Amino acid sequence: MAPTSWKLPVLTGYQEMDDQHRTLIETFGRLRVLVNQGRSPDEQEALLVFFQEYLVGHLEFEQELMARHNYPGERPHRDRHGELALEIEIFVSEFQQGHQPLSQANLEYLDNWLHQHIQDEDVPFADFLTRLPPTQEGSL
Ligand SMILES: [Fe+2]
Ligand SMILES: [Fe+2]
Repeated sequence: MAPTSWKLPVLTGYQEMDDQHRTLIETFGRLRVLVNQGRSPDEQEALLVFFQEYLVGHLEFEQELMARHNYPGERPHRDRHGELALEIEIFVSEFQQGHQPLSQANLEYLDNWLHQHIQDEDVPFADFLTRLPPTQEGSL
């Protein structure tokens, strides 16, 4: 069962993006369960690393779509992705070095950070994609 504080992903309306966002947010749900159960850093690490790797693949997926469709907001969105990838890399590296279990505050930070990006940058991008002429849309 999903913890009550597990936020649902903001839907962008673009299926593949929404599916990937759901996987990222479900990973938080699983991490939160491990935190609530007081599981060790070693047990939490695999999920955190999975999250990081999945996130990087997801950012690349969006970037490829932006480039393919000449998205006017590509530059700032891509820059923000660079910041997100760096932030998660630092977060994971500090977690691995500190060897301390994740806290609720850590999870809240990651959860809010991801939701903010989806809401502020991914929703407008998905809106752009869904408004493409049918010929381009058919090639997505
Ligand atoms: Fe995204
Ligand atoms: Fe994005």
